[in-house]
Amino acid sequence: MAYNLLKGKKGIIFGALDSKSIAWKVAESAHEEGAIFTLSNTPTAIRFGQIDELARKTNSTVIPADATNLKDLQNVIEQSMEIFGGKIDFILHSIGMSLNVRKKRVYNEIDYNYLNKTLDISAISFHKVLQLSYKLDAINDWGSVVALSYIAAQRTLYGYNDMADAKSLLESIARSFGYIYGREKKVRVNTISQSPTRTTAGEGVKGVEGLLDFTNRMSPLGNADAQECADYCITLFSDLTKKVTMQNLFHDGGFSNMGMSLEAMRTYSKGLDDVDMDDVL
Ligand SMILES: NC(=O)c1ccc[n+]([C@@H]2O[C@H](COP(=O)([O-])OP(=O)(O)OC[C@H]3O[C@@H](n4cnc5c(N)ncnc54)[C@H](O)[C@@H]3O)[C@@H](O)[C@H]2O)c1
Repeated sequence: MAYNLLKGKKGIIFGALDSKSIAWKVAESAHEEGAIFTLSNTPTAIRFGQIDELARKTNSTVIPADATNLKDLQNVIEQSMEIFGGKIDFILHSIGMSLNVRKKRVYNEIDYNYLNKTLDISAISFHKVLQLSYKLDAINDWGSVVALSYIAAQRTLYGYNDMADAKSLLESIARSFGYIYGREKKVRVNTISQSPTRTTAGEGVKGVEGLLDFTNRMSPLGNADAQECADYCITLFSDLTKKVTMQNLFHDGGFSNMGMSLEAMRTYSKGLDDVDMDDVL
């Protein structure tokens, strides 16, 4: 059900790869809520993903960009403003990638060139988007910028690897830039810390099936899925959350505040001493 929450608003959505992507669901929902927007992803993702289909469905233009490349990003912002005939109201940063995860390098043996790439793609790109938007004065007063994070920024979760470091940095950038952008231009900057979700990036995390099951059982409301994350993003882009900024907002069914659940206690009391860890991992 649509509420016209984004009627007349203009945005940029980074990171829709296929119909499982969180950014894809955000684009569909933003379209239903009356927004117009451009879509961006890497040339490779555009070639191999399904973003053109999303662009047709939502009447939007796709602008290629490697989010680590300042020229590419500037082009996305300038071209978007040209298409809209004015400034932007919202930006979604839904970008993440780790070569250490992809190449199965464990955290105590990471490759530092890969780490630099992880940080650049998954966190510093957010700073680049913000810095360019600020310099180009591309965002309207009371605009809203959201990036997607994960609880591994605060807690250690098996297998998340150097993406945990990237998410910590991402959340820090939201606070530091959020202060400046709020003070000078009344623009909100937040991160949403989302439950583990079945997407191309999500499925790359080691032991993801066990993780999804664990967090689902530990969360009183269960895991939040990609569509529910999109719904939350829409509220943050809307005028109903104008004073929310510099926050990392957990969207995880309550997982982040759990210690021990009834279900986990019951399982634990059955005894885990005989469990063979090789079967688990
Ligand atoms: N899936 C989960 O479990 C989960 C949980 C919490 C947060 N997140 C975060 O949500 C965001 C979106 O991920 P998703 O789960 O929808 O997966 P996804 O694989 O659909 O999206 C990741 C996107 O990042 C893009 N990308 C990678 N390198 C890029 C680059 N150099 N320049 C521009 N774009 C690039 C990919 O092309 C892809 O579209 C990521 O930041 C991810 O870390 C995901």
